[in-house]
Amino acid sequence: MGQPAGISKACLSCHDGTVAMDSFGNNTGTHLMTGSAKVGTDLSDDHPVSFTYDTALATADGSLVTPASASFVDAGHAVPLFAGKMECASCHDVHNNINAPFLRKSNSGSALCLTCHNK
Ligand code: HEC
Ligand code: HEC
Ligand code: HEC
Repeated sequence: MGQPAGISKACLSCHDGTVAMDSFGNNTGTHLMTGSAKVGTDLSDDHPVSFTYDTALATADGSLVTPASASFVDAGHAVPLFAGKMECASCHDVHNNINAPFLRKSNSGSALCLTCHNK
């Protein structure tokens, strides 16, 4: 506990931004990813990662899509979860730059965001 999951930690070993590795993340979803990777155009902070995104969170939040499974948010399998957790790689596929910067899907019209956020 107290560490980002392995997959995001691996990204952060190179993309370490402004937050020290040992102070990053506590699986509550309130800690934010590093300063190097802003999302959207009007966010003062970066997107949280390494927390469980499940039906309970979607219900509690009230403006999130309920994930299709612990492996994918969407039925089309464009946006993955990793043992139920949201990670850097939920939004990025570092092997595929069709949708720069290595996004899982185009964010045109906030399409990527709207895979998970329904308001
Ligand atoms: C071994 C070091 C290393 C690791 C590990 C790594 N990256 Fe990178 N990544 C880089 C480098 C170097 C670049 C090129 C940076 C540049 O062009 O300014 C890059 C580029 C990127 C870009 C494109 C940036 C842009 O401006 O177009 C994204 C997105 C990205 N990485 C995400 C990730 C994610 C997500 C992970 C984990 C799944 C990851 N990276 C793991 C080193 C790494
Ligand atoms: C919720 C989706 C989402 C998550 C989670 C996410 N990113 Fe990104 N990331 C984006 C989007 C969208 C952009 C493009 C932002 C833009 O162009 O303004 C981006 C841009 C980037 C870039 C390009 C450089 C930059 O600052 O524009 C890097 C590198 C990157 N992300 C790395 C990461 C890493 C490492 C993580 C995990 C710690 C991560 N991202 C998590 C959506 C995400
Ligand atoms: C893979 C699913 C997913 C994607 C894609 C996604 N989000 Fe999120 N986002 C979440 C979850 C889950 C939360 C946590 C909500 C909660 O804790 O109630 C969240 C939280 C947020 C928050 C609140 C952050 C905070 O500090 O509490 C903002 C703002 C946000 N997302 C914006 C975006 C934007 C903009 C995009 C598109 C670039 C995006 N999200 C894409 C799942 C996603």
